[in-house]
Amino acid sequence: MEKKTSHLFPTYARWSLHIEYGEGSYLYSKDGKKYLDFVSGIAVCNLGHRHHAVESAVSEQMQKYWHLSNLFPISLQEEVAEILTSHSDTDLAFFCNSGAEANEAAIKLARKYTKRHKIITFEKSFHGRTFATMSATGQAKIHDGYGPLLPEFVYLPLNDSDALEATMNTEVAAVMVEIVQGEGGVVVAQDEFLQKLAALCQQNGTLLIVDEVQTGIGRTGTAFAYQHVPHLSPDIITSAKGIANGLPLGVMLGKMNLAEAFGPGSHGSTFGGNPLSLAAAKASLEIIFNDAFLQTVSEKGCYLRDELKKHVYTIPFVKDIRGKGLMIGIACEVDVSSVIVELQQQGLLALTAGPNVIRLLPPLTISQQEMDEAVTIITDVLNNYCV
Ligand SMILES: Cc1ncc(COP(=O)(O)O)c(C=O)c1O
Repeated sequence: MEKKTSHLFPTYARWSLHIEYGEGSYLYSKDGKKYLDFVSGIAVCNLGHRHHAVESAVSEQMQKYWHLSNLFPISLQEEVAEILTSHSDTDLAFFCNSGAEANEAAIKLARKYTKRHKIITFEKSFHGRTFATMSATGQAKIHDGYGPLLPEFVYLPLNDSDALEATMNTEVAAVMVEIVQGEGGVVVAQDEFLQKLAALCQQNGTLLIVDEVQTGIGRTGTAFAYQHVPHLSPDIITSAKGIANGLPLGVMLGKMNLAEAFGPGSHGSTFGGNPLSLAAAKASLEIIFNDAFLQTVSEKGCYLRDELKKHVYTIPFVKDIRGKGLMIGIACEVDVSSVIVELQQQGLLALTAGPNVIRLLPPLTISQQEMDEAVTIITDVLNNYCV
């Protein structure tokens, strides 16, 4: 038989799963198999696949117009900006198409507003693949082959207040931090560390940028993960992934004083704030940014972590079960790539976060029965894993 060649650049190591359709918490493959989806398109489909409210909102918008450009006032942008800013300590939104673009906007704004260059980020952080956001990312493997990087990024160890105190000064434009490092291994930034960071930012006139691309939009049980930390009030919040439940949308949120540096012509994107994505975002946020809904996310997260602790903590190579809300990492002493493959064979989709952590990102609408199903599969697979 003739070998089928792909016309795609091989930038992704793809799974050999051919999906036909998705519904709720499940994906169904072309060969008739059903998979419980604890990946959610990497924290994107927070309401599960093809949520009816999102589907109707997008269909309705499709009947009106698909794209106008930012030459026009777009009322959906105003409506979604109102929802996002009223659920965070911010006043203004800039819409784009991805997490990297949201962080790119934040880096540009921080430099322009402060007239400083230096930006502190953290080891094992992940902020995106554009030149600035790759340079902000504290992982050598992401930089490999692309140097020279954008200058003036400094990477510090997360949760190390002494290192931070020694590096902060009035030359630092911004500090960019994930409240829970996602790609870096589901590593939680400590409250005291974040409070120290905020205080140092304030003392030095440095902007605090919280990258909520993965943690935002209800994933951890609050609208944004920084809201778990008492008295934290970032200058800039970036988000993307879950915001439009599968349609591309990113956002940078910021405080009013920053507006002066981002006047007409200073930044932009043709597709940024696309009406179809915004219709999806409005429908998603109306469901997620609701106290009762967010409470269920926290409760489900506690339940899932407790069940995992009960069933897999006893396995000698399992070292930690951590995370916030429905962003959970099972840290192991072994390479978990073969565990992910075995979980798939047993009908559960999960992903890695670094070589040793199994990352679970179920839809926020996951049921207890589905969580129990996942725990049973994970327990069986880990118990049968041969070190
Ligand atoms: C914390 C964080 N920031 C930024 C990004 C980049 O987002 P995108 O892939 O949408 O550009 C990601 C993606 O995984 C992320 O997890």
